[in-house]
This record gives sequence, structure tokens and C-alpha cells, in this order.
Amino acid sequence: MKATIALLPGDGIGPEVTAAAQAVLEEAFGQFGHRLEFRQALIGGAAIDALGDPLPADTLETCQASDAAFLGAVGGPQWAASETRPEEGLLRLRKHFGLFANLRPIPVFPPLAALAPVRAEILSGVDLLFVRELTSGLYFGPRQEQGEGANGEGERAFDTMEYSVQEVERIAHVAFRAARRRRRRVTSVDKANVLASMRLWRSTVDGVAKQYPDVHCEHMLVDAAAMHLLRTPAAFDVVLAGNLFGDILSDGASVLSGSLGLLPSASLGGERFGVYEPVHGSAPDLAGQGVANPVGAILSAAMLVRHSLGLEDLALCIETAVARALDSDRLTQDLLLHGPNSSPPLTTGEMTEAILQHLGCGVFLAV
Ligand code: IPM
Ligand code: MG
Repeated sequence: MKATIALLPGDGIGPEVTAAAQAVLEEAFGQFGHRLEFRQALIGGAAIDALGDPLPADTLETCQASDAAFLGAVGGPQWAASETRPEEGLLRLRKHFGLFANLRPIPVFPPLAALAPVRAEILSGVDLLFVRELTSGLYFGPRQEQGEGANGEGERAFDTMEYSVQEVERIAHVAFRAARRRRRRVTSVDKANVLASMRLWRSTVDGVAKQYPDVHCEHMLVDAAAMHLLRTPAAFDVVLAGNLFGDILSDGASVLSGSLGLLPSASLGGERFGVYEPVHGSAPDLAGQGVANPVGAILSAAMLVRHSLGLEDLALCIETAVARALDSDRLTQDLLLHGPNSSPPLTTGEMTEAILQHLGCGVFLAV
């Protein structure tokens, strides 16, 4: 087959991890005899600097003409005072393509258990998938910025958490369908004891749950979920959450993996097209040093291959190569922070190279 992928490197470490994902995709596609075309486009702060818009029309057209988009990261302190923020580009991209379902698996690699900030026995049996609602909630409800007031005093600003039954239903279906392919358990996270929008969330999820009698459904308040996810993570299967709570909890759960740098994500709508990005941000303090962990980006590329291109064996091949490369004491610096390891950390390029070397699937399939 021939696939076209839009590459949106963005800001900070975004370009470095995007290059790593691109190298792995090229190698894997070559081995499987598929053809691949990349089209690069601007997003975030880089697009503000070049064109004054974090999501230029040209970027949307490039995405429109592609099977999927890969995004590095957006944001950085240099745009903190800018009138339009880099993050707005990402939010508009998600909204434009109706990418309401954000899948965030928490990969736990047994060889890394000793390096995670959480005790190894707590990690045993962990296999978690976050299903985060991505185009509504507090991120997209009615808002008013400081200085936008009727008489311009700028004394007050607000954001609104708003959900409709239809918005909750469609993301709940994604969670329950995913649970059917896994351990058949959905934990829906909300704050129904305080927020009206979250009471609607809970009753709507209950309605959807009735259509999946084979899946166990439970509700958990977000504050309790933050604690239980780190105390008894193996008890969870699919965690269903709104936009803000899913954002916060998935960063928190990254400590189960050992590093935020390992986490991939897929943002999907009703079509095959999706946007794939590592969960980590632009990490301005690491940018340009070649030390960022490329694994979150490379695992996002595997999700792209699976969900937008339907090439399951190619996705598995990339994931296997990553798992093998992580079964080593040569790791990137983010993973070595908590362990006794004393070997010098790998650079982004060296880690990518290690994964490329384990991509032996072309040969394997030919046998
Ligand atoms: C994420 C990021 C984004 C979000 C930011 C960069 C807008 O934190 O994808 O998790 O909050 O959704
Ligand atoms: Mg986030």
C-alpha cells in the first residue's frame, strides 16, 4: 500500500521526536514493502512565528490530503505573552477533524519496573487504557478572557465545563467497545458530587453501560481516582474521563510506566484519519539537546499504523522493537533518574538507533 502522513513537528523537543518516529516508520514500511510519503507542515509556536497563526490553512489542507497526522509537541515560554497561544493550534486541529476520542494506553515494560518511581510489586499486572474525551468539556465551553469584559476591566475570567448527552454517549461507546477487547471493565471518572455537568456525565454513562451487560462499569470521583490509580493500578482496565480530568490523570499515571516520555496517544473521530502524538509536551528545557526520549513518539507512530492504516502486524513489529530496546540498561536519561543504573544515558538518536536495530520483522516474516 501507499500511505501519506502529515508531519507536524511543532515546538521544543517536537522536531527531535518527530524525526525519530519518521525514521522508524520509514524503516518498518520499507521492510514490509509498503510505500510512504511524508508532508511536513507548521503548527503551534513555529507556525505563529512564521505566519502569525498556530494552525495555518495550509496545515489543515496538508492534513486533509493525508491518511493520518503525526504531531510532535506545541508550546513554550517564548509564546507565553503572545496573543494567540501555540496550544490553540492543537485544540483547533482536534476540533476541526472532530477527533473526540483520545486513546492513551499506559505501557508498562517489565524490565523498567525497577526504575519506576512506584514499587515494582504495585506495577505487576498493570494494563491500563485511558479514553479521554477531547473536543468538549472545560477546554471548549463558553469562556471569557481577562480584558474581554464588556467594560474591559479585566478583573475576572471564566471557563465553562459543558457536556451534552450525545457527547458523553459517543465517548462512552468508545470506552465500552475498547473494554470488550480487553478485560471488560470501565471506570468512569467524574466529579458528580459537585458539578452538574458531571452528574449528566454519570447518568449518561450508566445508560450506555446497559448496552454492554458483559462489561463491568464503575464510577469513581476524580480525586479518589488520582489516588487509586497510583495505589492499585492493576485493578483498572479502561479509564473513561472528560477532557480536563483525562489530561491530568494520564500525566499522573505515566509514573507507572517509568516516564512521561514513554506514553503514546491517538486522537480519533468517526473516520480513519487521526492525529497521533506523544503525551509529553514540548519540554523546552530539553529542546535542542538531543536527550528527549523518542519512545512515546515511536509508540504513537505504531498507533497511527494500527488505527489509521489498519496495518496491525506492522504496528506490532514496531511495538516489539521498542520493548526489546527497553530491555537493556542503556536507556535515555528520563528513565535513569530513579534507578541505581550508572551507565551513561542514551541520546534521542541512540535510542532510536537501538529500536531500528530491533526492527527485524521483515526478515522474520520472510522465513
Ligand atoms: C495534551 C496536552 C494538551 C492538552 C495541551 C498542549 C493543549 O497537555 O495533549 O495532553 O491539554 O490537551
Ligand atoms: Mg496533557
